Amino acid sequence: MDYKSIEWVAKTQVVRMLDQRLLPGEVKYVEYTEAATVAGAITDMVIRGAPAIGAAAAYGLAVELCHNESDDPATLSAAYRAADDVLRRSRPTAVNLFWALDRMQDIVDKKAGGTAREFRALVLSAAHEIARQDVEVNRQIGLNALELVPENARAIHHCNTGGLATVAYGTALGVIRTAHEQGRNISVLVDETRPRLQGARLTCWELQQLAIPHKLIVDGASGFYMKRGEVDFCVVGCDRIAANGDTANKIGTYNLALVAHAHHVPFYVCGPTSTVDLSTPDGEDIDIEQRTASEVTCVGKERIAPEGIDVGNPAFDVTPAEYITAIITERGIVRQPYKENLRRLFA
Ligand code: MRU
Repeated sequence: MDYKSIEWVAKTQVVRMLDQRLLPGEVKYVEYTEAATVAGAITDMVIRGAPAIGAAAAYGLAVELCHNESDDPATLSAAYRAADDVLRRSRPTAVNLFWALDRMQDIVDKKAGGTAREFRALVLSAAHEIARQDVEVNRQIGLNALELVPENARAIHHCNTGGLATVAYGTALGVIRTAHEQGRNISVLVDETRPRLQGARLTCWELQQLAIPHKLIVDGASGFYMKRGEVDFCVVGCDRIAANGDTANKIGTYNLALVAHAHHVPFYVCGPTSTVDLSTPDGEDIDIEQRTASEVTCVGKERIAPEGIDVGNPAFDVTPAEYITAIITERGIVRQPYKENLRRLFA
């Protein structure tokens, strides 16, 4: 595939993102030169998906410093802190945002004391490293998952977790990609994923380019296909995995997990360990983003609901750990009891 969700343009020192709001109709790249507009791009979902949001935040810091011409390290430090602050407020649920900003801060703290030029170089190289590792981690998740993917597998996938939602390759969609690359003859039922339609717009776009067989379905059709015995497993990404395994992911994930449980279909959550948040004890403590009503009342520019009604639009839900068959990370496959086994991943 020849698109990039996010990349650094060395010549002009800008961060470039593929505007995912326009896909699949238009492939348009937008360039950013300051942290505040990168934060805006995250909030408005120019870029979205937990790992991609983390990388965008890291590059948001880098771009801010690269376009600040001060020679004074203290001035740059103040600019860094302000950029960090604005990026932290861009979206609340995906822990990768905070993970990336904390990791950048750690590196800055450990190597503080250089010139302004060294400070800029340090922040940019730390951002590059986050982006580089993301691709490596995604490929490893795909390989680790292979033992769970039978020949001729029929999967259901929710939201978009592919190259668009990451720096490249993908997590849950990466699992599907790896199985396809290994000749497992995998096919995918793609949940459309109301209201932003990440499944219909983005996942189908990616699967089409990869020539992986897929069929678009409405979110409510998963029970229909599972009841007919046409689904071997569900595979989804994650925005935050609490210490007990409860997992926040795109709204509708919980419903899918319940239907899978009722039909004894395995339910797999895939994500990098940067999405595991051991400081959050369980799903109750995860901050769930509430988005604007117009995402629900309108499809594109067309209004589909009466004016003046009350609307609820939580962007994520939490799937209790008991409905998750396994969590697939780059460090291996984790099963119940999640509290002990997730902690062991970091030992
Ligand atoms: O609101 P979005 O599109 O950012 O939500 C994305 C998801 O919920 C993904 O499943 C999750 O971030 C994992 S992406 C590899």
